Amino acid sequence: MANHKWRIVNPSGSRRIIVTKELPGSHWLEVLEGANCRIEICTSKDVLTVREIKSAIDSACQGAIGQLTEDWGTTLFSALKTAGGKVYSNYAVGYNNVDVAAATKEGIPVGNTPGVLTETTAEMAVTLTLAAARRLGEAERYLRKGNFKGWLPNLFVGELLNRKTVGIIGAGRIGSAYARIMAEGFKMNIIYFDLYPNSKLESYIASYNEFLVSNGESPLWCKRADSPEELLKEADCVSIHTVLDDSTHHLINSSRLALMKENAILVNTSRGPVIDENALVNHARNNPGFKAGLDVFENEPKLARGLSGLENVVIAPHIASATQWTRAGMASLAACNVAGILQGYPVRNQPDIRDFLKGTPPQAVPNIINAKELNLPMI
Ligand code: DGY
Repeated sequence: MANHKWRIVNPSGSRRIIVTKELPGSHWLEVLEGANCRIEICTSKDVLTVREIKSAIDSACQGAIGQLTEDWGTTLFSALKTAGGKVYSNYAVGYNNVDVAAATKEGIPVGNTPGVLTETTAEMAVTLTLAAARRLGEAERYLRKGNFKGWLPNLFVGELLNRKTVGIIGAGRIGSAYARIMAEGFKMNIIYFDLYPNSKLESYIASYNEFLVSNGESPLWCKRADSPEELLKEADCVSIHTVLDDSTHHLINSSRLALMKENAILVNTSRGPVIDENALVNHARNNPGFKAGLDVFENEPKLARGLSGLENVVIAPHIASATQWTRAGMASLAACNVAGILQGYPVRNQPDIRDFLKGTPPQAVPNIINAKELNLPMI
């Protein structure tokens, strides 16, 4: 077990909280100090093991803020419960690293940070879409290597997005924000696959169409696909925004990749295991017109063999939410989840979270995943 350093903020606080990584900004610390917390922060950049976190929880710990790289399951929730723990918050919107049922069994509310990542993540999905479509990674590497000898008609010819069709897998908050940017920015038709119809997105496109038509332009269409297969066949570009669970693990596999258009673009900013990464490597290798933009990987931080050598795949190290505003906002929300539960506030679970991001936060808990199961008071 490595000997990681922990720094302590507000040592005289009566509620001991552990935070497994340094977080951006200072507002989150003010929130926890305001709730009389003694905050112990691990200063190491290494991913902490379950054993290391369990030992940090020790014998008295009222709450914890953890990372998506950590395995928060039965061992840690039972250790937290034994130490007097009352709340856990993931520093992420995704929580596939958390066994929520195990936390619920121990009576521990689990928070996450939706609302503050939406536009930032959607913008990264757009970035990857454009970078893949216009072969930016490949072109930049070529230029940096000193290979550019002058303009050529056929140099790095890519794909035009304008007036084509974009497919959204998982049309929740982030998927809808991405769809709106692609519709308004590139006038792309939308096909989405989601368990539920998204009437908000459909009516947004309907009102945008009124504007287009009033300008003498043809309207877009927006429809819900009956199956991922229908979407993959029709879309020129597909962006994945679904959660990772048993139903979405390897949702994109070799047979589904084979349905995609020859020059299709596939973007993933959700979770790596939604795509069978070995199948993607084979597909991208055998179909040079196919392009992908990936921010997440099946076995992070490892990449599937052959992936990093593929010129038609643009890759980024899981940074879709990495803007200063969002990362500091995630810290504020995680802190408000912990401080709010410790102070007995009711749970809000509403999309508008801005009032939690600065100053004195409202007397409420921003977002608790298992609030209903634990019968927590809600507003
Ligand atoms: C999340 O929050 O789930 C992202 O993947 C990291 O910000």
